[in-house]
Amino acid sequence: MYVKEIKQFFKEPPAHLRVDFKTKIEYDNYLKAKFFSLVMFAVSLLSMIIANFINDTVQISDLNFSFFVLSSVNALLFRIKQPSPNELKFFHKTLVYGLIITVLGWSTLLMAMLPNRQELIGTYSIVVLSISLVFHLKWNVVAALYSSSLLPIIFFAMPLMKEPLAPKVMTIAMLVFISWVISRMLYYKEIQNFTISRTLRDQNANMKAEVLSKSIKLKNHEEEKIEEIIFSVTKLLGIYNPYTNGHSENVAIASQKIAIIMGLSNEDAKDAYWSGMVHDLGKLLVPIEILNKKGPLAESEYEIIKSHPAWGYEVLCQSESLSSIADYVLHHHERWDGKGYPDCLKGDEIPLISQILAVADAWDAMTSERPYRKAMSETEAMLEIQKNKGLQFSPPVVDAFMKTKKYYMNQSYSAF
Ligand SMILES: [Fe+2]
Repeated sequence: MYVKEIKQFFKEPPAHLRVDFKTKIEYDNYLKAKFFSLVMFAVSLLSMIIANFINDTVQISDLNFSFFVLSSVNALLFRIKQPSPNELKFFHKTLVYGLIITVLGWSTLLMAMLPNRQELIGTYSIVVLSISLVFHLKWNVVAALYSSSLLPIIFFAMPLMKEPLAPKVMTIAMLVFISWVISRMLYYKEIQNFTISRTLRDQNANMKAEVLSKSIKLKNHEEEKIEEIIFSVTKLLGIYNPYTNGHSENVAIASQKIAIIMGLSNEDAKDAYWSGMVHDLGKLLVPIEILNKKGPLAESEYEIIKSHPAWGYEVLCQSESLSSIADYVLHHHERWDGKGYPDCLKGDEIPLISQILAVADAWDAMTSERPYRKAMSETEAMLEIQKNKGLQFSPPVVDAFMKTKKYYMNQSYSAF
């Protein structure tokens, strides 16, 4: 019935689990072992002091047995402990001191009991101490030596005692076995808890990853929908004002290229693109007869057209994902010299992406056919932009535009 449990009790867990487990329990067991080491130290010290003042060998023997039990438990608890270098130093020190105290305590006891055997015990103690101190042994080796230092004492001292040897040896063996079982149970219980908590942690991590991946998919899907809507609106603008068909796409691509050449972040370059796509969105509110008028515009009509950046801004501000670019659209008709609209901003008061939009917008407008004029050649348009550098256009943007023009000259993009 319990065969499986018993088998599992004696079976070592897999190596990788043991390593993780030991890392996890390192601190817990460090505290446990530290506590036992201190108790061991205190009891052995007490044992030595008492042994010096009491002549009743049975009492002394009992005191040392209690110390032996504690030290055995301590040594066995170390079995499940894999200390870090600093902790190792601490254990080492504790055990070496414990060893000194033990040997001194037992020597005192034996000196009282065995006047003819001090030399042998003394020699053994000195050998163990010297090995531990000179070679700076690891805690487990010291623990082994420390425990084994008791053996000669038992074998040499017991036969000389009046009590029979067997019950003492049996008691010691039993105590060692009980300590081992306790440490084993602690180890087994701890590793079980660890396995359960790790499984829960893994499940939790998997769930989080799944939720994250779903939300990313959802976000991507939403972004795709927004992009489709923007494309549809620009198409609508192309139908409403056929002379500017394709203009939004061209301004978007040109603005993105200038932003990249100017070393803007990917995020800003994307903003430049989407600002280009929607920069003339407000024109949908301009009456069609004004927008498509072939002759020169009256002043009042021009004032209406000049409202399109503000109208576009108001619409974009309503959208959660596009409100961040609303400002760029609002200022795409500002001029570097402050003579633009709607706010007559000057120089760097104009958002950088709006400065970029102004150049890209002018470039595409100049190089496209309009009902009231023919398209300029690229050279003429470039000269015009250069001429207006520092007046209508931002000088750094014009410089970047010239570089962009050169850089993309051999590319197949439609905007340049
Ligand atoms: Fe515009």
